[in-house]
Amino acid sequence: MLSPLIKEIVALPATSQDVTVHGWVRTKRELKNLTFVEVNDGSCFDGIQCIFDRSRAGAGDADSMAADLSALSTGASVEIRGCLVPSPASGQAVEVAAYSITVIGEAPVETYPLQKKRHSLEFLREIAHLRARTNTFGAVARVRSRLACGVHEFFQSHHFQYIHTPIITANDAEGAGAMFQVTTLDLGNLAASGTALDFGKDFFGKRAYLTVSGQLEAETYATALSRVYTFGPTFRAENSNTTRHLAEFWMIEPEMAFATLEDNMALAEEFLKFLFTLVLKDCAGDLAFFDAHIEKGITSTLQSVIDSHFTHITYTDAVAELEKNAATFAFKPFWGCDLQSEHEKFLTEKVAGGPVIVIDYPKEIKAFYMKLNDDEKTVRAMDVLVPRLGEIIGGSQREENLTKLAKGITGLGIPLENYSWYLDLRRYGTVPHAGFGMGFERLIQYVTGMANIRDVIPYPRAVGQAEF
Ligand code: 4AD
Ligand code: MG
Repeated sequence: MLSPLIKEIVALPATSQDVTVHGWVRTKRELKNLTFVEVNDGSCFDGIQCIFDRSRAGAGDADSMAADLSALSTGASVEIRGCLVPSPASGQAVEVAAYSITVIGEAPVETYPLQKKRHSLEFLREIAHLRARTNTFGAVARVRSRLACGVHEFFQSHHFQYIHTPIITANDAEGAGAMFQVTTLDLGNLAASGTALDFGKDFFGKRAYLTVSGQLEAETYATALSRVYTFGPTFRAENSNTTRHLAEFWMIEPEMAFATLEDNMALAEEFLKFLFTLVLKDCAGDLAFFDAHIEKGITSTLQSVIDSHFTHITYTDAVAELEKNAATFAFKPFWGCDLQSEHEKFLTEKVAGGPVIVIDYPKEIKAFYMKLNDDEKTVRAMDVLVPRLGEIIGGSQREENLTKLAKGITGLGIPLENYSWYLDLRRYGTVPHAGFGMGFERLIQYVTGMANIRDVIPYPRAVGQAEF
């Protein structure tokens, strides 16, 4: 049987029952004959206070306890036994009147990097293998875990099937070319010997890559099982060194047959509201911390989003709004431009005062698979933008017409053979269908208020960064 977690211990009645606490020491304070040790095990935000009365132990015990306590420092792992009693201190219902302590692993003060003081997020990124022991990263990890599970709860309750799409792929799902190549060829040797590269001799007999999206494969299952979703790692070799881009991130991609852009927008809104409601309910302790120390008012912001209706606006109308305020932007907006983060910020914060769904983008700036509108200039795309962060979700209704889709692919200079299996979905039993992708780290950023995406994934991968 596993020994109880602090989360479980603090929920017990404080009837002087014996408890055993395992965890890592956060702080130690001495006051007369009393030693207060705050122990945290990461099971919940708060640790548990263990109080030692050094004068009350038997003579021999007192010596060994005093020795153990004096050697004790922040970061040490301990086993503490005592009685669970009501706590007179504010902010905690119970505490442990401790009678024994075993130091399992010391954490020498001279070298342990996480001393009691506040550390910068930049510093903590350099010691990512230890940062989960801080309040901030423990809270991020718990929120991340709860939301990952919540994603499955949402889709399963809406009868979506969970599909595992491949991580290694030979095709570019976004047609944007930002892919990492996967090869077993000895490139260094080939270059040194002057041998020409022949990917026919590579592991897969052709060039292969890490996937940028599971969408295309998800479409093949949606046109068989009606509602599906993926949730897996995706990779982008974009050289974007920003606070919202990673080279490796997790994406959730629902895909629905017999669905339009309107259905897609409604699902995205319901999905986000479900996740915000869940995190407010199940991660209240962690959110209270983010609200107090990371992003003031984040809990009320989430609640107000839950209570709101997302604004819908066409790209054309959005650009018109931006052009009216052109003077405020470094990048002058014009019809046909990709929306910059300053534009997204303006639309959410100034125009809508909350989340906005921008639809019907120019076809030139969106992916080849999106359904062409009757104007033949715009596509049935949607981006869900949120204040502070900008794009959290990108999706579309898919082009279900074979001729139009083929035209889009050849327009990119890509041979149709590359996508023949994808085109089969339009050859045989084609249906209107739609879906979207949500970057999981963007979601975590939004609900926690963490400013840098590298702080919401345990081991961030970005340009020039693949430590641990
Ligand atoms: O807008 P994107 O590129 O859309 C797709 O990949 C589609 N195949 C999705 C679909 O329709 N099934 O990416 C979707 C989302 C973005 O809105 C953003 O939240 C996130 O993925 N994202 C990133 N997150 C972190 N780092 C990056 N480099 C990201 N690129 C996209
Ligand atoms: Mg996008």
